[in-house]
Amino acid sequence: MKKMIIGNWKMYKTTSDINIFKSEFEMAIDSANINVEYGIAVPSIYLCKVVDIFRNNKNIKIYAQDAHYKEEGAYTGNISYKQLLDCNVYGSIIGHSERRAMFNDTDEEINKKVLALSRNDLSTILCVGETLLEYQNKISVSIVINQLKKALNSVMDNDVKNVIIAYEPVWAIGTGIVPKPEEVDLIIKEIRKTISELYNPKFGNSIKVLYGGSVNAKNINDFLKLNSISGFLVGSASLKGSDFAELLELGGKDA
Ligand code: 13P
Repeated sequence: MKKMIIGNWKMYKTTSDINIFKSEFEMAIDSANINVEYGIAVPSIYLCKVVDIFRNNKNIKIYAQDAHYKEEGAYTGNISYKQLLDCNVYGSIIGHSERRAMFNDTDEEINKKVLALSRNDLSTILCVGETLLEYQNKISVSIVINQLKKALNSVMDNDVKNVIIAYEPVWAIGTGIVPKPEEVDLIIKEIRKTISELYNPKFGNSIKVLYGGSVNAKNINDFLKLNSISGFLVGSASLKGSDFAELLELGGKDA
């Protein structure tokens, strides 16, 4: 199966940066050499614009970084899944650790968001991951599986197919520190096992499970060697069009 690489732009970029990204990306990318599924998660203010400027590239999937579970309402500052559909956005990241830590996204809210998106045929990139303290206390597996089960509460077999899971250890995000590939392998296998237990057992193999946290062109190969991994969620290495294009080329090669 093709690997998947999604860039997360977080709260970076203005209109002119986006135009520069696009031209650098298109100069660097050799489409014939791209053997991965890919996309970018864009700040909400630019979603419609980015969908529009990439309208001639059917391969790039445009994601939001969060979406509300209500169709509409008095939720100042939020965007709804209905608005994503309106702008032809492909899906959204849900439960990123920065949202959990800084915006108090609870497991219950994350679950409601996953339910709303997956029922509406929007792709969900559900983030799970332990903190440094939890890692040091060797409770990563139970933390991650607990987050996963809570986020998928009441999500049915038919809807879970729209869910991509991203394992992002909080301590690896933006730090330049990455876990050992075997540590990532262990967690991804536990995630797959849990999915097999909760759903049609075949889904454990077929569901996409990404790794995220300080992935770049230098370390991506170490993770590509893992059979368990479906791809990557990438922050800072997705900000420059040429860097992102390089990652896409590397991600499509057999490690
Ligand atoms: P970095 O790749 O910058 O560590 O960010 C990872 C991340 O949070 C992607 O969602």
